[in-house]
Amino acid sequence: MHSCEPAPACTGSCRSCPSVGSCPDRIVCRCLQVTEQEIITAIQIHGATTERAVQQLTEAGSGCGCCRREIRQYLAVYALPVVQVEMASV
Ligand code: FES
Repeated sequence: MHSCEPAPACTGSCRSCPSVGSCPDRIVCRCLQVTEQEIITAIQIHGATTERAVQQLTEAGSGCGCCRREIRQYLAVYALPVVQVEMASV
């Protein structure tokens, strides 16, 4: 049966959020204590387009490496695709 109780306040450490982008305070990189919001900021504000760039900006992924797959998921969702525009000859 469905419960209508409000969700508990986010502590950022449960790792039970259903998907990328669902909880800004969630710790994505436990080794370096990097939050989801910091990773999204690295991608959207600072223009990181690779796992290495996110690592350089946030240090996420530079410990055990367990979070690297998740960082790639953030890149897939938040990094803008590089669009190549070819100028038509006039
Ligand atoms: S959890 Fe990110 S490097 Fe270990």
